[in-house]
Amino acid sequence: MKTKELVYAALFSALIAVLGLIPPLPLGFIPVPITAQTLGVMLAGCFLGRRMGALSLVIFIILIAIGLPVLTGGRGGLAVLVGPSAGYIFSWPIAAGLIGWYSEKIWPKLQTWKLLAGNLIFGVMLVNLIGAPIMALITNTSVWAGLAGALAFLPGDIIKAVIAAVITMQLKAISPIEEKVQ
Ligand code: BTN
Repeated sequence: MKTKELVYAALFSALIAVLGLIPPLPLGFIPVPITAQTLGVMLAGCFLGRRMGALSLVIFIILIAIGLPVLTGGRGGLAVLVGPSAGYIFSWPIAAGLIGWYSEKIWPKLQTWKLLAGNLIFGVMLVNLIGAPIMALITNTSVWAGLAGALAFLPGDIIKAVIAAVITMQLKAISPIEEKVQ
């Protein structure tokens, strides 16, 4: 791994932490909030590609684990990583890696709708399909109740998927994955 790749990954971890300054939207009926940080997860995948995208989220989880307040509401620490949000948080590097893998494949003929499709499959569906059952398990509710509750995330998640695709198209010329796929 080159130093430059590490720097890009760290920059995106920082960006996701900055998105955490946007206050969370608690839903009341499930213990996981709506957060802008998933926008950063999708951007990391789209913009950085498979390796750096996944790495940026691994770094982000390490920052949470050592107790830095990088999640919305200034949260961090090991307790969060075994709480109701745990499945969601651990799904983030997987999602960023898969979005990045797909993004590298489509990069030579990049189009907004293609990026959006990757974001919807890996950044929205996969994240919720991993996160919701684990949330249900940790809160002692049924998997179906967890999945039904997670439907409330879909409108916001879809909007973030669109924003990430549009921003990536705008930043395409300066993307670090440009040089990898040429
Ligand atoms: C946290 O504890 O700060 C929340 C982390 C997980 C939030 C999940 S990610 C997918 C879904 N979309 C959201 O806006 N929130 C949940």
